[in-house]
Amino acid sequence: MGRLTGKKAFVTAAGQGIGRAVAEAFVAEGATVVATDLDADKLSDLQGADCRSLDARDTAAVNAMAADVGAIDILFNGAGFVHHGTVLDCDEDSWDFSFDLNVKSMHRTIRAFLPAMLDAGGGSIINVSSGASSIKGAPNRYVYGTTKAAVIGLTKAVSQDFIRQGIRCNAICPGTIVSPSLMGRIEELGKTLDGGYDEAEKLFIDRQPMGRLGTAEEVAMLAVYLASDESRFTTGTTQLIDGGWTL
Ligand SMILES: NC(=O)c1ccc[n+]([C@@H]2O[C@H](COP(=O)([O-])OP(=O)(O)OC[C@H]3O[C@@H](n4cnc5c(N)ncnc54)[C@H](O)[C@@H]3O)[C@@H](O)[C@H]2O)c1
Repeated sequence: MGRLTGKKAFVTAAGQGIGRAVAEAFVAEGATVVATDLDADKLSDLQGADCRSLDARDTAAVNAMAADVGAIDILFNGAGFVHHGTVLDCDEDSWDFSFDLNVKSMHRTIRAFLPAMLDAGGGSIINVSSGASSIKGAPNRYVYGTTKAAVIGLTKAVSQDFIRQGIRCNAICPGTIVSPSLMGRIEELGKTLDGGYDEAEKLFIDRQPMGRLGTAEEVAMLAVYLASDESRFTTGTTQLIDGGWTL
């Protein structure tokens, strides 16, 4: 407890899944948390945070939010979308949407919040990438994996440019993590299989050598570490948390 006391954090996509668990963990560790999501209703039961509606695809809204929130110590970029399919299933609109939400959203928030972080002498930026990225090719994750590889490149570029100014920037690369959207993907796959939902769930579990799915709380523990001063010598890294998926 208290590992983030005195720090102010800003979280995107805090409504459910990993972002929600991260916002809750940041609050539990003593941070002042501004928790945002496209769907503000999902934030209604989030205790202890300043909850606000924010579309991470809206540059003007992100800039206005940053001006209003002021200096922060921790920026957690959680917003992302999983497109299903190969290159042949990915038309230009799908490509543009995925890059806008998964990559440009991070460009937006970093550009908006970094100047005040620099003025304050430093901070920790945490970007959610994935094992499916430059680390591993996953079936039917063509544009998703491409965007998440870009997140790793963005993370390294930012960490390199501001390393002498107290800014750290790291990427978290989860494997398969229980979340509402994952349950949706399992349901969809189940419709195409004889064994339905159970068979689809087993396929997702089987790709984790540890034999189980990860939890958002496990990812949140890693985020707390990267947000805290415990990780002060760590920047530009890709932190796998994947139950051995990429072994
Ligand atoms: N769940 C997994 O297995 C897994 C694995 C690797 C990486 N990730 C990444 O973790 C992040 C969170 O995924 P999840 O599965 O935990 O959560 P999720 O997909 O269930 O929830 C995502 C949240 O993002 C919000 N959102 C959607 N569009 C938004 C926008 N334009 N602006 C702001 N918020 C928006 C949604 O309202 C929702 O609350 C994503 O970047 C995802 O790619 C997830």
